Amino acid sequence: MTSFILNERPVRTEERPGLTLLEFIRGVACLSGTKDACREGECGACTVLLGSRQSDGTMVYKACASCLTALGDADGCHVVTVEGLGGEPLTLVQRLIVEHSASQCGFCTPGIVLSLTGFALGSLSLSYDDALNALDGNICRCTGYASIRNAAKALCEALAGIDKAPGKRPGALISSGVVPAYFSEVPGRLAGLGAIPAPCGKNAVPVAGGTDLFVQKPEQLLESELCFLSKRRDLDYVREDKEFLRAGGAVTIEDFRNSPAVRRHFPALAADLLLHSSAILRNKATLAGNIVNASPIGDAAIILLALDARLMITGESGRKREVPLDKFFLGYKKTDLACGELVSEIAIPLPPAGARYNFEKVSNRTILDIAAVNSALLLTTATDGAVKDLRVSAGGVGPVAMLLPGLEKFCGRKPDAALFEDLAKAALAAAKPIDDIRGSAEYKKLLLGQLMRAHARTLAAVEAAS
Ligand SMILES: Cc1cc2nc3c(=O)[nH]c(=O)nc-3n(C[C@H](O)[C@H](O)[C@H](O)COP(=O)(O)OP(=O)(O)OC[C@H]3O[C@@H](n4cnc5c(N)ncnc54)[C@H](O)[C@@H]3O)c2cc1C
Ligand code: FES
Ligand code: FES
Repeated sequence: MTSFILNERPVRTEERPGLTLLEFIRGVACLSGTKDACREGECGACTVLLGSRQSDGTMVYKACASCLTALGDADGCHVVTVEGLGGEPLTLVQRLIVEHSASQCGFCTPGIVLSLTGFALGSLSLSYDDALNALDGNICRCTGYASIRNAAKALCEALAGIDKAPGKRPGALISSGVVPAYFSEVPGRLAGLGAIPAPCGKNAVPVAGGTDLFVQKPEQLLESELCFLSKRRDLDYVREDKEFLRAGGAVTIEDFRNSPAVRRHFPALAADLLLHSSAILRNKATLAGNIVNASPIGDAAIILLALDARLMITGESGRKREVPLDKFFLGYKKTDLACGELVSEIAIPLPPAGARYNFEKVSNRTILDIAAVNSALLLTTATDGAVKDLRVSAGGVGPVAMLLPGLEKFCGRKPDAALFEDLAKAALAAAKPIDDIRGSAEYKKLLLGQLMRAHARTLAAVEAAS
């Protein structure tokens, strides 16, 4: 049984938890405002809001692609489609879209309305940049993005004076006409709704964000026993101790990116992780899912390899073991994870003094595209400026996301142009790319060499600016 609130009405359904939320909304609940297009998280036409009640009674709403969200993930939540926002009268976001002529055929418009409403509910800064980031997964084929951006800008201006405190946000947005008044009753109505999360059974498929699983095997998931990690509050944290930044196994890319501890210790990640998919996917996709799917070009995996991350793996019995990320990938799509085991924590050593980090990604499109080749670097220097430690990862050039071997030989050298030329040679010697749809092996080798030079240029630019 899955229980949730769909717009204003309560839902209790025996539909299979692996049905996509999109199929439920359109096919079972007969709400056709949410559009069905790519079914692969690529267009944003199916965007809805998923609101979950926090332990302090406040709500957190996130825009997500309903085509890659399981019905079971909605258990205990508030699901908002365009029918749950307005019509008569229009909400502020809808009005601004009309006033700025930001809709033509209208196919993308419900998704854009939901993404902007999600921004208004969730953005800490309510800045124009944040509004544009919130829209990075919504494709429009006919209006032209200038008018959509104008509507987003007008929204930011209209919200400039509101109380930004997360606890006060829904009330402020009801007064501003961004969400309807019934939103204020939702936390009370959700109290006690939804099943109590249980540990995953041995044969259950762990579903984190589902952004990989629901592209790969949606039919199979319909028949499978599923374990929804988004319900596991014990796996949803980012905290730091003296040595490590620790992220639970259900932390989303977007929560990680926005976490104060990450901003403090790894400020560059706020921009780097924006290159991962789009907001409606990052709101659900997790760091652990990016690692366990064992893609040779996973962005988070490549970054975490350079940062020397370690995985805490917890078995069904509760037994824990630690595996360094660079020992986790055993071959193409093969990992050191046994049946029934979960990645329960990702621990990243806090950067030592003198450490410099950089990430580079080449893809056909800047946003919403998987890399052809990507690479991250962590360079630590001694007080005399000589290299003390160098870790460089490379994706798309072998069967697994790899850490370049043998870089100890660079220790003691100055990190100058000659060193990075030698690093490019070392990277090419280790790379074994294949021809595929992202490019020929030869092209990927060329890119890899260029990415080593790009690391050098970015580090030099950062140094010059500081
Ligand atoms: C349109 C689109 C764009 C994308 N763009 C990018 C991109 O730019 N960069 C990129 O790197 N990826 C991209 N991806 C791929 C995908 O979004 C990411 O790999 C994402 O991080 C996967 O995380 P998830 O939580 O959604 O994983 P899920 O789909 O939930 O799970 C993936 C696998 O990991 C397992 N799993 C998940 N969590 C755990 C855990 N804690 N313990 C054990 N097993 C677990 C699942 O059982 C499954 O086998 C894109 C995908 C789409 C659809
Ligand atoms: S239908 Fe295109 S993102 Fe879901
Ligand atoms: S208005 Fe036609 S696709 Fe955006």
